[in-house]
Amino acid sequence: MKTVYVGMTGDIIHPGIINIVKEGAKLGELWVGLLTDSAVAAHKRLPYLTYEQRKAVVENLKGVSRVVPQEEWSYAPNLKTYRPDIIIHGDDWKSGPLRKVREEVYAVMAEQGGEVVEIPYTQGVNSSSMHQARVSIGTTPDIRLKTLRRLLEVKPVIRILEAHSGLSSLIVEHLEIPGDPEIRRFDGMWASSLTDSVSKGKPDIEAVDLTTRLHGLTDILECTSKPIIFDGDTGGKPEHFVFTVRTLERNGVSAVIIEDKAGLKKNSLFGTEVAQELAEIPEFCEKISAGKRAQITGEFMIIARLESLIAGGPVRDALERARAYVKAGADGIMIHSKEKSGLDVKEFCEAFRGDNPHIPLVLVPTTYNHWTEQELAAWGARIIIYANHLLRASYPAMMKAAELILKHERSLEADPCCMPIREILELIPGGK
Ligand code: SPV
Ligand code: MG
Repeated sequence: MKTVYVGMTGDIIHPGIINIVKEGAKLGELWVGLLTDSAVAAHKRLPYLTYEQRKAVVENLKGVSRVVPQEEWSYAPNLKTYRPDIIIHGDDWKSGPLRKVREEVYAVMAEQGGEVVEIPYTQGVNSSSMHQARVSIGTTPDIRLKTLRRLLEVKPVIRILEAHSGLSSLIVEHLEIPGDPEIRRFDGMWASSLTDSVSKGKPDIEAVDLTTRLHGLTDILECTSKPIIFDGDTGGKPEHFVFTVRTLERNGVSAVIIEDKAGLKKNSLFGTEVAQELAEIPEFCEKISAGKRAQITGEFMIIARLESLIAGGPVRDALERARAYVKAGADGIMIHSKEKSGLDVKEFCEAFRGDNPHIPLVLVPTTYNHWTEQELAAWGARIIIYANHLLRASYPAMMKAAELILKHERSLEADPCCMPIREILELIPGGK
């Protein structure tokens, strides 16, 4: 009997997949190369189900004889290992992003004396069009919470963008641009204290309480599925922080970042004229430990944020604190700086990395933003947060429209800088 290979993610089983399995099984013993999370992550969104869950579904499909992991986006390694007689694929890969994958498959199969069978693509149903459905089906707090850890396992660097409203979170959720070779997108959202406060017309001094911020977060939770990292400011007193951790977990937030400031918290990016007071190390450690003891899930992350460089201290101080915070249970370390060169952050990362290769490092390159993600990843960064850009971009745009209306005493001149009404209505699913 001939062996037949088909590659798939198997996240949502739709009629197109049933069709290819049926056709493949007619040709021989059907082997499914099931793409692992890391094979998918560089090219598409992380699957909704874990590899093990997808495997359990796919190996029970009628016609499937065996499921093997496909560790790479390219079929070539598995085709060389398993040497199937036939590979079967939908004919949609003749053009578009899969064209190169197809060429490679043809080359490998020709070399091995195998055959490539293409079947007519099932119109109207495919995994990407199902993605939209998935967002409207929704996610559960549990699945969303775990996604950040899953991403950390499979992606070298995770790209996070600030969202301060349902509308801004839709951009983070859906925006995709073609990159080389993969499609580029954001991996998750940052619930920033700065933008949560400023969008409410308040200063960033812990003046907006957790309950109010959670109301805003609910808008984001209701229209997105990507993981959320919550800016927990100083975390308050350990007794308050314990409550915050449980509340965030219950809502499906993946991580909280708390900063080691004391006294009245002020935003870290103010000039040096604003003195920043640091917390005592043992006290901050106690807060981290209290949070870790309180958390219910194994996957929620408490990330300790070092403000030494912001307060004008040396890298040495940041390193000493980082070591203590990791010992106290911190699941990750964020190092912050407002130095334009970013070289203090680089020095910290390189020293920290050596001792703690497994603790994820988080960077917020607002001032040192000439460094690329790849360069920051080379320093050891695992999570990069663009902390305030959607709010900062929206204000000048709103100002411009308002000024044009004032100037011309009508809105005609503001039209070119405004989204057409039709588009804004169509932007929100169910808006029509
Ligand atoms: C925030 O976004 O609120 C932050 C990052 O805490 S920063 O504003 O750079 O301090
Ligand atoms: Mg903040």
